[in-house]
Amino acid sequence: PAPLRLGIAGLGTVGAGVLKILRDQSDLIAARAGRPVTVSAVSARSRERDRGVDISAFAWEDDPVALATRDDIDVFVELMGGTDGPAKAGTEAAIAAGKDVVTANKAMLAHHGQALAEAAEARGHVIRFEAAVAGGIPVIKTLTEGLSANRVERVMGVMNGTCNYILTRMQSSGLPYETVFDEADKLGYLEADPELDVGGIDAGHKLALLSSIAFGCQVDFDGVALEGIGSVTIDDIRQAADMGFRIKLLGVAQLTGRGLEQRMQPCLVPAASPLGQLEGGTNMVVIEGDAVGQIVLRGAGAGEGPTASAVLADVIDIARGIRVSTFGQPAASLRAVRPAQSAVP
Ligand code: HSE
Repeated sequence: PAPLRLGIAGLGTVGAGVLKILRDQSDLIAARAGRPVTVSAVSARSRERDRGVDISAFAWEDDPVALATRDDIDVFVELMGGTDGPAKAGTEAAIAAGKDVVTANKAMLAHHGQALAEAAEARGHVIRFEAAVAGGIPVIKTLTEGLSANRVERVMGVMNGTCNYILTRMQSSGLPYETVFDEADKLGYLEADPELDVGGIDAGHKLALLSSIAFGCQVDFDGVALEGIGSVTIDDIRQAADMGFRIKLLGVAQLTGRGLEQRMQPCLVPAASPLGQLEGGTNMVVIEGDAVGQIVLRGAGAGEGPTASAVLADVIDIARGIRVSTFGQPAASLRAVRPAQSAVP
């Protein structure tokens, strides 16, 4: 059978991880996909940087748009990041050129995912983004495949590992926010713009995508009531602990009679609960469905292997010929639902 040919834009941690899995597990992937998955061309900021993987066999493009429109690629794999700019330009060019798209870019999707998915689907293609929400945890597939017969009642979880690291480290060390923030910075945990993490924005992007999928409604990032962890003090954490609670940056989404409620805020959770016990840079997503009851998913929300695992799961689905929208239903059929709460708390 004909190979599925990838063009990969962005060779940072995740892109390098994707190339390593394709290099090391090509037989397993071909068996699962029903055909070989190959890389035709790549694009990144630097061609020379050592990534622990040889890229000399792939064609090189300086411009992601040129990569996205090459005749020898079937799927544009967007791993650059950024809400607009080259990521969006490349994705739009790929869709216009009749390619499928796989991306890990939560910021782009939270703002433009609806329009991008409608454009792709109108041409008989898909944009898939398992890696954009909770990294290696297959939460989108769980919702759209495993729980597809359920009416989802609530989705909640810890979706930013960096904030969870900072809050659990404050708890265990007694050190103040500023000190632990600096530690996280030295460990390389923070996004280039740390406000994306500690302002709750990155987690809010993920929640907006998840609630769209869970409730069949249009992505509404502006409807997320957002509050970061910057004002959580060590006294807050101590007092919570005294009462048997932990403070977590918790996302909660539910569809109520008043509309779609989406909140990403520091919350008290019982210390003995699965969410309360979640430590370090881990993610946890809790899904409540009318038929299934409660499901708890836990795992790495970031990092080379986990995020590449999710990217390649989407690639393998496309190779298998699965044309289901990442939203679990056609993007054009998602309903507009008004926010149940004021977006500014
Ligand atoms: N900065 C994010 C986190 C990475 O800490 O979870 C994945 O979006």
